[in-house]
Amino acid sequence: MIGRTDISIRRMVLTDIPAVFTIDQASAALYWPQSSYYFEVERNEASRPWVAVDSQQRVCGFLVLWLIMDELHVANFAVHPDYRRRGIGDALMQNGLYEGWKEGARISYLEVRAGNSAAISLYEKIGYRVVNIRRHYYQDNQEDALMMNLEKQDYQTYILTLEKLWMIPTKK
Ligand SMILES: CC(C)(COP(=O)(O)OP(=O)(O)OC[C@H]1O[C@@H](n2cnc3c(N)ncnc32)[C@H](O)[C@@H]1OP(=O)(O)O)[C@@H](O)C(=O)NCCC(=O)NCCS
Repeated sequence: MIGRTDISIRRMVLTDIPAVFTIDQASAALYWPQSSYYFEVERNEASRPWVAVDSQQRVCGFLVLWLIMDELHVANFAVHPDYRRRGIGDALMQNGLYEGWKEGARISYLEVRAGNSAAISLYEKIGYRVVNIRRHYYQDNQEDALMMNLEKQDYQTYILTLEKLWMIPTKK
């Protein structure tokens, strides 16, 4: 868990789910049903679901990751529209990728709508690169999906950058 003065990040718990669902609905055309979040929190052993909360413990963003062997998949991710452009999305990704690395992840991958310039910009800054395009992937508007990978070398560079940022001694 990482903390900032006004925002902290912790694992998602059952009582967060209504707020998470509201954020997902406000953020994505193809949002998940609430039952999916219950499955992620209660039953999916691969799931690493995180939330960002403000100083009053209001959920303002979430990130669901799946850790399978050494692969970390970004499954769902959004910040409440009223809380965007304050670094919360970035903080969720930093925390999720760092915790995933500690658990053995060495590559990360995701799909993103080709027109989602905000998310693509965030992912590119981390080090994700487009490796493939799936034409007409999204059912609602037939939009293309970009498949993006954070390869081992770029993932490691990112972790070292975070450790310097947070002044964590690097393990030899
Ligand atoms: C993508 C999303 C999670 C980003 O969350 P956020 O908290 O607003 O992002 P941050 O404030 O941490 O921004 C980090 C970087 O992302 C990029 N970014 C975020 N919003 C952006 C925008 N509106 N336009 C362009 N770049 C943007 C920038 O590179 C930004 O860095 P900067 O502030 O130094 O310019 C948020 O826009 C969102 O919830 N979108 C809808 C859901 C979604 O698209 N999820 C991803 C599905 S793959």
